[in-house]
Amino acid sequence: MEIIKNFVDNIHNGDYKRNYRIPVIQEETLIFPGGRRTRSLNGEWNFSVDQYDNCLRAKWFLEQEINDEGRSVPLDYAFDDWEKIKVPGVWNLAKPEYFYYEGPAVYSRRFSLEEENKGRVFLQFGAVSYEARIFLNGTFLGIHKGGSTPFSLEITAHLKAENRLIVVADNTRRKEQIPSENTDWFLYGGIYRDVSLLFVPNVYIKNMKVSLVNRETGAIEVKALIESEKKLTDHTLTFLIPELNIEETVPVSGDGTFTKIVHAQNLSLWSPENPKRYDVILTLKEKGEAKDEVTDVIGLRTIETRDGKILLNGRSIFLRGACLHEETENHGKAVTKEDIREAFQRAKKMNCNFLRLAHYPHTQWVSEIADEEGILLWEEIPVYWWIDFSNPQTLNDARNQLSELISRDFNRASVIIWSVGNENPDTDDRYHFMKYLAETAKEKDPSRLISAACLVDSVNLRIADRLESHLDVIGFNEYYGWYDPDYEKLTEILNGSKPEKPVIISEFGADGYHSENKTGKNVRGSEEEQEEIYKKQVEMFGKTEYIQGTAPWILYDYRTPKRLGAYQKGYNIKGLVTADRKREKPAFEVMKKFYEEVRENEGNDERIV
Ligand code: GCU
Repeated sequence: MEIIKNFVDNIHNGDYKRNYRIPVIQEETLIFPGGRRTRSLNGEWNFSVDQYDNCLRAKWFLEQEINDEGRSVPLDYAFDDWEKIKVPGVWNLAKPEYFYYEGPAVYSRRFSLEEENKGRVFLQFGAVSYEARIFLNGTFLGIHKGGSTPFSLEITAHLKAENRLIVVADNTRRKEQIPSENTDWFLYGGIYRDVSLLFVPNVYIKNMKVSLVNRETGAIEVKALIESEKKLTDHTLTFLIPELNIEETVPVSGDGTFTKIVHAQNLSLWSPENPKRYDVILTLKEKGEAKDEVTDVIGLRTIETRDGKILLNGRSIFLRGACLHEETENHGKAVTKEDIREAFQRAKKMNCNFLRLAHYPHTQWVSEIADEEGILLWEEIPVYWWIDFSNPQTLNDARNQLSELISRDFNRASVIIWSVGNENPDTDDRYHFMKYLAETAKEKDPSRLISAACLVDSVNLRIADRLESHLDVIGFNEYYGWYDPDYEKLTEILNGSKPEKPVIISEFGADGYHSENKTGKNVRGSEEEQEEIYKKQVEMFGKTEYIQGTAPWILYDYRTPKRLGAYQKGYNIKGLVTADRKREKPAFEVMKKFYEEVRENEGNDERIV
């Protein structure tokens, strides 16, 4: 008697989640989306907060309105009558009463499958914060954990002509999650990136990775994976870059893996000055007949370190950066392409060529637009501050978020650095956890640099984090002048350290509030004081040879539950620009001038191989 048992279960079962812990949806089910037949499920969904997780406890997703004795059952839910909410979006900004809501919420919508589909159908989510449990036509299909990365799941076997899709999104902070319970940013909730149906044939191209592996010879490595339920026999793959007159067709081996090196002549290398991209097409054929095809638009460049320098296309480059959270006042984390372009324009106005995307994977639109506009990116997973480093499940979740990020952005020329964390306490557990992540990133993507934002050794005043031996670039956060007023310590650190690898000052800065009343450079937290701190900081950077990049914290003021001071009012006000993006603070000019000088010293000759 499901529904009666269900009722008892609903109120007597403390471990009601036991049926919703597996399958865990992870990177393995991601499918390359470029050029695919998709159908958007964005739009208005029905919505309700579900503070006591009733949808799971009472199995609302079954929509069982008549019990086994034929009697109607009182309903405590009304999917189709609930209010509407916009997807993508964050519930926090949908209604004032939802602003601080943290917990489970139920999204539901119906969709019909008009088109006859002969192949396989997948659901794709850009991201859901933080856990997402997916139910289709009354069946639990799996759970995704991680609030910033995409996931896919196959729904072919569960589809009907008319379908009910339910997503239980839960943004509760938990000790064992990545990030853990304590962050200096606002943890929005909801389905805040695109949702779509993805249609693929029975045998299809699961992923395609393209990278320039040798600039001198123009060698381009193409890796692909073909998914098939039967052994591949008469299949070939054709790789095409029309503009470079590259067309190569090769047979595909039985296990579906494919690696090929092709050579380009007269390649125009991608760079911030010349964000040149090429159309790339990969076609799967069976007995010469095209069965599946994916496309991408890819910039080709190399990034490496040598003798303490960061080399883009063989040329040393200083990363003129800024840190950026994924947020705008009006959209929260559900930023739009216009929001992204606006941030890029502001960064370029400050003479930036680089952005540190703090502290989690931002929408894939950022790296796509950065490819187009010529901005270099540091992308990061939220292994942030204290994490449950001794928990194997936590390590698996961190590994998975890293894998989903690399899988999503592998073909993006703008992404040059994968960062495995930020300001973590230096314990043995932390060391082993992050060493594993650094090694995983390098193994999954040998074409990029690995970093992390480390803390200084504040006792010996040195850049000396043992994780550095597993990084290509040392990120180093410091707030001298703000949290510690003693600049002499920064001088001691910079002059006394002898790092063998390039260092990026991955954070520095200070609060900067604006007040019509009298403020001044001696007023704590004023934007005039902020300006003074910036002047002292950039003066020291200019004298330190091994610093190969800087990223002030942070381009825009942003929401955080940690900053409740008289002038903060729920915002981190270290921004160089106000949260409404309307006003640049005086320190903005300091950075703009510093970066102008750096750029002039570097010169702008672009090497063409
Ligand atoms: C830290 C941390 C940031 C934080 C900043 C601050 O370095 O990485 O996430 O917001 O300092 O104190 O404002």
